[in-house]
Amino acid sequence: MSMAKCNISLVVIPLLLHIICFLLFPHTLQSQENGFSRQPSREFVFTSHERSDSDPQQVHISLVGKDHMRVTWITEEKDSESMVEYGTNEGEYSKKTIGEHTSYKYFLYKSGKIHHVLIGPLNPSTTYFYRCGGLGPEFSFRTPPLKLPIEFVVVGDLGQTEWTKSTLKHIDSKDYDVFLLPGDLSYADTHQPLWDSFGRLVEPYASRRPWMVTEGNHEIETIPIIQPHAFRSYNARWPMPYNQSGSTSNLYYSFEVASTHIIMLGSYTDFDEHSKQYKWLQSDLVKIDRKSTPWVIVLLHAPWYNTNEAHEGEGEKMRQAMEALLYEARVDLVFSGHVHAYERFTRIYDNKADSCGPFYVTIGDGGNREGLALTFKKPSNPLSLYREPSFGHGRLRMVNETHAHWSWHRNNDSDTFVADNVWMKSLSSLKECWELGHQEL
Ligand SMILES: [Fe+2]
Repeated sequence: MSMAKCNISLVVIPLLLHIICFLLFPHTLQSQENGFSRQPSREFVFTSHERSDSDPQQVHISLVGKDHMRVTWITEEKDSESMVEYGTNEGEYSKKTIGEHTSYKYFLYKSGKIHHVLIGPLNPSTTYFYRCGGLGPEFSFRTPPLKLPIEFVVVGDLGQTEWTKSTLKHIDSKDYDVFLLPGDLSYADTHQPLWDSFGRLVEPYASRRPWMVTEGNHEIETIPIIQPHAFRSYNARWPMPYNQSGSTSNLYYSFEVASTHIIMLGSYTDFDEHSKQYKWLQSDLVKIDRKSTPWVIVLLHAPWYNTNEAHEGEGEKMRQAMEALLYEARVDLVFSGHVHAYERFTRIYDNKADSCGPFYVTIGDGGNREGLALTFKKPSNPLSLYREPSFGHGRLRMVNETHAHWSWHRNNDSDTFVADNVWMKSLSSLKECWELGHQEL
C-alpha cells in the first residue's frame, strides 16, 4: 500500500466512521469500562507495509489436525497465487500446495487477497522452510513435538503498542512450541487497516510458531445498519480448525497437540444449554481420551473468576451455563483474558475451592492500548492466590503426563521477570477425582 493510500485509510475513513456512528448511535462508541482507572498505555505502533504489492505480508500459521499447518497471508495484488512451496532445507522446496483465498469489505474498506493454504502431512519437531505465492522472503517454522514435553506461551489482549512489542520480544527470547491467545488481538475496533498493521507486527513470531486464537469483544466489530455482521475481519483473517473438531463455527473449536486437548470457547456467541456451542462442548468433552491426552485446558475471553474491578461479573452467565461441564470432565486449567492484568486462582468449582476443579488464570496483559486494570477488590478473595496489574505473558510447560509448570513473566523495562510460578498435577493422575460416579478415566 502506498503511503498516500495508507494515510487516507488511517485517518479519513476511521474519522468518517466515528462521526457517522457518534451521530447515529452514540452508545456504540462509549467505553464500557468506566469506573476504574488504568495505567497509561505505551505509544501505539503502526507497522507499515514495506514489501511490494505482490509480496506476501502478514504471514501466520496455525495447527490443523495432527500433522497439518494452515499458512495464511495477504497480498495487495489480486493475481497472486494461493500457493505454498515448502521443504526441510533452506531455499529448497520439495513440496508445493495450492489453497484457497478470500477477501471482505467493511464499509469503505476492501481487504487485500487473503490466502489460506493447508500444508502437510508434516513431521513433528521439524523445521520447515516455506515461501508464499512463489514470491518474497523465505519463512520457516518448527512443528510441535509429537509427545510431551511441550511448552505453550499464553497471552491475551495483545494489541499493537510499545508494550505489545516488549511482550513479543520477551516471548521470543525463550523457545516455545505453540502460542495460545484467549481473545482481543489487534484492537482495530472497526479501523480495518489496523488489522493489517497488526498482521505485519506479529508476522515475525506468528510465521515461526503456530498461533491458536479465540475471539474477544474487540473482534466483534459490528456497527448498527452499516456493518451488522460480527467477526467479519476476524473470521476472514484468523480461521481456526473448527471443522476438524466437529464445530460449525470459527468462534469455538478444539485441537490436540502432544498429549494435550485444548478447547477454545467463545464468550461472544450463544452458550446457554440450548445453544450450538453448549451441545458441541458436551460432545467434544465426551470424546476426550485421557490416556492419549491426559491434559485438558480451556481458553475463553471473559473470565469466570475475577477479583479485579474491571469487567466484574461479565463472564458470570457463561460460568453458570458451562462450569459444570468443565468440572465433570476434569478440565485442568481455564485461561481467560479481557481483564488487563494477571490473576491466578486455586482449583475452583462453583465459587468454592475444589481439588478436582480447574485452576483459573486471567492473562489479559499482552500490551493493548487501553492500559492496565489497576484495581483489585479488597479484602482479597482467598480463592485468588496471585494478582498483579502488569503487562507480561505466561508459559505452560507440560513436562510429562502428571506434572506441568506454569510461570508468569512480567515485562520489566528491558528484561522479563518470572513473578509467579507454580507446579501443578494433572487431574487425570488424581484417582480421587475419578471416583464418586464421575466420568471414567
Ligand atoms: Fe476484552
